[in-house]
Amino acid sequence: MNDTVAAPMSFEPGAAVAEGGIPLCVPAICGNEWKYVKECLDSQWVSSVGPFVNRFESAVANFVGAAHGVATSTGTAALHIALLVAGVEPDDEVIVPALSFIAPANAVRYAGAWPVFVDSEPNYWQIDPERVAAFLNNDCEWVDGKLLNRHSGRRVKAILPVHILGHPVDIDPILEQAQKYDLVVVEDATESLGAEYKGRKAGNLSHIGCFSFNGNKIITTGGGGMIVTNNAAWAEKAKYLTTQAKDDPVEYVHREIGFNYRLTNVQAAMGCAQMEQLPQFIETKKRIAHRYARSFAQTPGVTMMNQASWALSIFWLNTVLVDEREYGIDSRTLMKRLGSHGIQARPLWQPLHRSAAHSQAHWTGGDVADQLNRQALSLPSSVGLADEDLERVIKEISDR
Ligand SMILES: Cc1ncc(COP(=O)(O)O)c(C=O)c1O
Repeated sequence: MNDTVAAPMSFEPGAAVAEGGIPLCVPAICGNEWKYVKECLDSQWVSSVGPFVNRFESAVANFVGAAHGVATSTGTAALHIALLVAGVEPDDEVIVPALSFIAPANAVRYAGAWPVFVDSEPNYWQIDPERVAAFLNNDCEWVDGKLLNRHSGRRVKAILPVHILGHPVDIDPILEQAQKYDLVVVEDATESLGAEYKGRKAGNLSHIGCFSFNGNKIITTGGGGMIVTNNAAWAEKAKYLTTQAKDDPVEYVHREIGFNYRLTNVQAAMGCAQMEQLPQFIETKKRIAHRYARSFAQTPGVTMMNQASWALSIFWLNTVLVDEREYGIDSRTLMKRLGSHGIQARPLWQPLHRSAAHSQAHWTGGDVADQLNRQALSLPSSVGLADEDLERVIKEISDR
């Protein structure tokens, strides 16, 4: 191999970036992580039980103001279990945004249920509460005490709003519909730990919420997740299901099929150290977002994602819309150009109703998610992003 040729830039979020390059979003490990992990190694509490698991569960639950936290192996596992404890059953339907990472829709399928995809609202790019209401009011009917989707004949059981990119969903109108139609609300707050909606923390705005501690999230345990809820019975059930559904602490007795979805003590140790730094991480993310916003206000054709007046975003991934007509090139061309300068950027997700994996799901909407998918580009947003690197990204985008 000719080593004088620069390695091609990968656009995967966790992909290695060539030396001197600027990654999209990588962890900041600069607190008590080593100390706490060493405590696990020294004490040999390295597996799925141990003091850090309980401590981490309390730290996250307390932070969002929830009564209970149940740690899981991933955010996807958290979603799967949250749907099960919320009573979602095979052949039910769950309302999910079309514009999201695929995990929540997959979790719905793991539960044997079906997603109903709903378009985004154009202002903050979250699931559109008006379209949710329109679907429930116009496309569903009560039959024998069950709310059925008229098109599929399936029972509609839950709404799964996803707070994408660090910004909360406008949840009150969704909660209103949920109450009206007796639906449970399962929040996917995996991208938005610390975000606030009217002073309340995302993940604890409804019946049950889920977080992810994957490497690209605002805090990380390498891989991991958490369920938070104020419902003690649900929390107990979640713990039971994530730990192989053991009905006896000694004898191997199981009433139900459980899952091995546990977080290890070593991962939780890292999580405890990361939680100590979360307020500071959020401040840094805000500072990066404000710097981007100030610069792009002067760049025709490049528009930063907005923050609603009722929201506090954690700006997990700073994302811009690129208007080809005004800016001169489209989002994918800009992505490649940034890549050629060692700057990692990436588009938003293919809208899920377009995904072959979910081709059988019901869909309701217009072209908002499609348009966001065409125009959006997420920019380097790591907590550890150096000022000179931030300026380099801004310069590459602004100097046209
Ligand atoms: C919106 C959303 N939901 C769920 C997940 C799944 O979390 P995990 O990777 O921890 O399974 C992610 C990201 O990874 C995500 O962005």
